Amino acid sequence: MTLQFTEDLLTGFSIIDEKHKMFIEKFNVLLDSFRTNSSEEVIDPFFDFLTKYVKEHFLEEETLMFKYAYSGYGQHKIEHQHISEKLGKIKDEYSISGANMSNVTQMTEFLLRWFIDHIKRSDMQYKAYIEKKAKPAAN
Ligand SMILES: [Fe+2]
Ligand SMILES: [Fe+2]
Repeated sequence: MTLQFTEDLLTGFSIIDEKHKMFIEKFNVLLDSFRTNSSEEVIDPFFDFLTKYVKEHFLEEETLMFKYAYSGYGQHKIEHQHISEKLGKIKDEYSISGANMSNVTQMTEFLLRWFIDHIKRSDMQYKAYIEKKAKPAAN
């Protein structure tokens, strides 16, 4: 299984689109490494990447939503907080027990839910809102 970046995910803001592409790329690399059993070497750098990623990307999105006075700003920010907290928990569990079937599965499910429930749904909601706001006469 791999994730694909499709055109419908484009927000038109390159700073956001590049980060979403990066998420998909990293997810695919991580999953591939789970299959080839070299997971230990990639998980530590992956956590480092994700920790930095959530800080940067979530702030970039929140700044954008705030700028356009997005009505779902508060709810979206809460979702970002939940993702960050969940990531912290998974990271803590991993640092205690190392990579095992349980936390590798948990990590994969977490990232998939992030992609399906957040990027594909919530991020696309602010995209639609901003598009409408920027081009009100088009519809
Ligand atoms: Fe996003
Ligand atoms: Fe988001």
